[in-house]
Amino acid sequence: MATLNVQIGFAKNADCVELAKLSRDYIESGLHWRWKPARLLKLIQHPDCVVITARQELSIQAFAAMEFYPRHCHLNLLATKPEFRQQGLGEALLLWLEASARIAGQEFIKLEVRCQNTAAIRFYESRGYAIQEQCVGYYDGREDAFTMVHRLMSDEQAAQRP
Ligand SMILES: CC(C)(COP(=O)(O)OP(=O)(O)OC[C@H]1O[C@@H](n2cnc3c(N)ncnc32)[C@H](O)[C@@H]1OP(=O)(O)O)[C@@H](O)C(=O)NCCC(=O)NCCS
Repeated sequence: MATLNVQIGFAKNADCVELAKLSRDYIESGLHWRWKPARLLKLIQHPDCVVITARQELSIQAFAAMEFYPRHCHLNLLATKPEFRQQGLGEALLLWLEASARIAGQEFIKLEVRCQNTAAIRFYESRGYAIQEQCVGYYDGREDAFTMVHRLMSDEQAAQRP
């Protein structure tokens, strides 16, 4: 992994427009734009969500958003700007989120990814995420998704949870 000279921290309210555009261009490209600025702002402000950015000085290079449920976390969004890819930023954001999920005692992290997005699928597989099922027509009724899961504790540990 290349040496990172970025700061990872919580997104600010004012980031919602840029993050929504990153989602539109790099995550939802070719699909109906669902993650618009107002929805990103709600996520940034929601107590059960974390939205984080990787920045160099003021410039956002990558971001991620995850929601916390009682037993698991759902990774909603993750993108690195094309010019900063394969330098370890996606992994750094994922490690940050996984650490926060572990501290919260979550059993697993779940996400959906477009079946055609082989780069992201390889990225998640390299980080210990496994394909669970295929959801036909998940995106706008015309593109399939894979759900992927990363377990944070063993079945035995999960069974002992209160
Ligand atoms: C998927 C994505 C977030 C990865 O971000 P990144 O910053 O490039 O990832 P990293 O540099 O941390 O990669 C970590 C590891 O993942 C794997 N990986 C990353 N990109 C890959 C690719 N295009 N093909 C194969 N493996 C890849 C590699 O094993 C890599 O380790 P290495 O660099 O030591 O070989 C990025 O490609 C992206 O933004 N894609 C568009 C948006 C998207 O698809 N988001 C995910 C769906 S929500």
